[in-house]
Amino acid sequence: MVSGVLWHIAEAMTKSSRDNLNLNIRLLNSADFSMFWPVRLLALQESPHAFGASYEESLAMSEQEAVSRLSPKDGGFILGAFADQLVGIAGLARQPGIKVRHKATIWGVYVVPTARGRGIARLLFEDLLARCQAVEGLEEVVLSVVTTNQAAKELYLSLGFEVYGLEKRALKVDNEYFDEELMTRAIT
Ligand SMILES: CC(C)(COP(=O)(O)OP(=O)(O)OC[C@H]1O[C@@H](n2cnc3c(N)ncnc32)[C@H](O)[C@@H]1OP(=O)(O)O)[C@@H](O)C(=O)NCCC(=O)NCCS
Repeated sequence: MVSGVLWHIAEAMTKSSRDNLNLNIRLLNSADFSMFWPVRLLALQESPHAFGASYEESLAMSEQEAVSRLSPKDGGFILGAFADQLVGIAGLARQPGIKVRHKATIWGVYVVPTARGRGIARLLFEDLLARCQAVEGLEEVVLSVVTTNQAAKELYLSLGFEVYGLEKRALKVDNEYFDEELMTRAIT
């Protein structure tokens, strides 16, 4: 059933990519679950090297657990980019502890394949970074990106992220290891 839903998204995106995108970026909440979750699963299935989470484990999650992703706490949020339907997602996660609440992690950055190369990830990020400025006490955002993911690295560098470290063998996918660059950007 899920693969049918994913096929439907891919087909719909092909049609959407022929038209001019009329993009709307907004916060997602639990009411958006039926749109968010198929896109999240598509991301994990289609780009297994880009994310720490796995498609198989996410597919096996209970709906309650999956829905809880859409109710982040402590200033975290998930953004969605809509062009008729959901075409891009990006999340911010923050821990509550007083020693770590000055920083937050960007996760789950994804644009569906047929909507790529049209500036959607850049617009999502600009919106995300602007919203970060309103998160009380937040001074810095961090993310990690597989070293071979040129498109994502170019995007992040162009938005002012800097590399501050390298995690060797950060991911192991089908017995192959992937290193990740750790990146940071100040929120001023
Ligand atoms: C990475 C990703 C989010 C980019 O989305 P997108 O909407 O196509 O990106 P945009 O069109 O907004 O491009 C923004 C910038 O990204 C970079 N970029 C995007 N595609 C690129 C490519 N194929 N090669 C090199 N750089 C690329 C460029 O710097 C681009 O800016 P420019 O158009 O001014 O040159 C998308 O390819 C994706 O979802 N990939 C799979 C999942 C993934 O890798 N997520 C990131 C995990 S860290």
